[in-house]
Amino acid sequence: MSSLPLSSAPWPRSFLKECDFSPEQWLTLIDLAAQLKAEHKNGTEVQRLAGKAIALIFEKTSTRTRCAFEVAAFQQGAHTTYLDPSGSQLGHKESIADTARVLGRMFDGIEFRGTAQTDAEALAEFSGVPVFNGLTDQWHPTQMLADALTIREHVKKPFTDVAHAYLGDARFNTGRSLLVSSAMLGMDVRIVAPPKFQPDPQARTIAQAYADRTGARITITDDVETGVRGADVVSTDIWVSMGEPKEAWTQRVAELRDYQVNAHTMALTNNPDAVFMHCLPSFHDLETSIGRKVFELTGLSALEVSDDVFNGPQSVVFDQAENRLHTIKAVLVAFLQR
Ligand code: CP
Repeated sequence: MSSLPLSSAPWPRSFLKECDFSPEQWLTLIDLAAQLKAEHKNGTEVQRLAGKAIALIFEKTSTRTRCAFEVAAFQQGAHTTYLDPSGSQLGHKESIADTARVLGRMFDGIEFRGTAQTDAEALAEFSGVPVFNGLTDQWHPTQMLADALTIREHVKKPFTDVAHAYLGDARFNTGRSLLVSSAMLGMDVRIVAPPKFQPDPQARTIAQAYADRTGARITITDDVETGVRGADVVSTDIWVSMGEPKEAWTQRVAELRDYQVNAHTMALTNNPDAVFMHCLPSFHDLETSIGRKVFELTGLSALEVSDDVFNGPQSVVFDQAENRLHTIKAVLVAFLQR
């Protein structure tokens, strides 16, 4: 894809999707996150966003992303205003374009989590201020920065030597973004999923275009053994979401149960140093209402990852969750300090 940004390309005005960035720009954000994390940990953090105001639009629920934006902004001296569908006019009484034009007059930046990538793009177009994609159905770019920082901290190899296997449903935001961002970083990236759960042609084309530039190796396979052999990182994401009918859950679980990350999967890597990653939330036990409902329907007490792997010594999921804070802070600083 020739339209990908070159290393000398100017910075995008907004943080909307991975393919707006050159690999060098992406690495700059990861480096900045590592610097800001170190400053925070050693007590030398400097507030670079004093006086800035950031709107946080969440059409969908969130724990990590919302908290990371709020805490990152607070630690950097900025103010946030949280807007959800029930507490604002967005969607039912006011269009995205009109909302964007209003918020652009009041705020220095806008975070958006919702279904449509086009809504994030429209907010950026009509607001005139930087917009940060906190997840759409297509892309989850802030998560990818956190994942990269976590891999750098836990896998003692350059990104270009890291083998990263993702198992499960790779059709949507996390799977697509992971494929593209891993290719940006030059990794050996493996998407391991049944054919109907593999990424769409657009995501594959973007990833291959980055791979042509970075030397990334891309494997898309339905064979778990092939996909995870030699992997340094094994990751996955949830199979079911709250808005879906229960009939869909039963079928999804049947189709994906062979792709659960469990002790056998981790052993298949033949790499005792392999780490397990998950963007969370996760259905690894019966401590959630969805987990219990799926158990009633399927008899499975864990879905995409077994409880022993999730809580085991190879799991770095809570370091990964913490890194949402440091990487989102890097995005805010990079886009709002200017
Ligand atoms: N990983 C992630 O985006 O978490 P939240 O849905 O809790 O924000």
